[in-house]
Amino acid sequence: MRAMTMAGLLVMGCGVPMDGGLPDGGQVLIPSAGGAGTPATRAGLLSFAQGGAYLSWKAEPMVHTSSGPHGSVRTFVNDALYASLKAGNATHPNGSVSVKELYANGARTGWAVDAKGDDGVWVYFEGFEPQLNQYFFRGTGNLCANCHASGVDFVLTPASALP
Ligand code: HEC
Repeated sequence: MRAMTMAGLLVMGCGVPMDGGLPDGGQVLIPSAGGAGTPATRAGLLSFAQGGAYLSWKAEPMVHTSSGPHGSVRTFVNDALYASLKAGNATHPNGSVSVKELYANGARTGWAVDAKGDDGVWVYFEGFEPQLNQYFFRGTGNLCANCHASGVDFVLTPASALP
């Protein structure tokens, strides 16, 4: 249902191809504290979400209804983005990552991910089961960034939503 809404937005909104701007195999990494980083690719972000490492991050206390088009959601942010949000920064550091769990009828149906690579460019992934690879964009002028542009450095979740 939500996937249809997003697909409709995509088709009517900007005429951007389903795949977005950057094919898998891009070289940009999302830096991580003490880790090797995550490839800022469709496959990289999908496997990162599926791996579940984000489950230990700071998170909204419970699933709630999105004020945007995301349906029922729960947002997690990594330490870099959490610190930046709580500091009220206007620009978030490279390596900032937010993973948003997407729910329908009480079950998790997929993930939306925003991540800032080591080149300072935001990448966006969203996948709904069973395909889990429906949207992947990089930079501005795409479905995700066009709406997220009204946030603080493209992040729309307020610091107050996090513990
Ligand atoms: C029409 C507006 C809109 C579009 C399009 C949109 N979002 Fe969002 N998004 C929101 C809003 C509003 C929030 C704030 C939390 C909430 O209420 O869902 C949000 C929150 C998020 C978050 C949590 C971090 C943050 O920025 O607050 C992620 C991750 C996210 N969106 C990913 C995506 C991805 C990936 C896409 C494209 C496939 C996308 N969004 C498209 C409106 C939008």
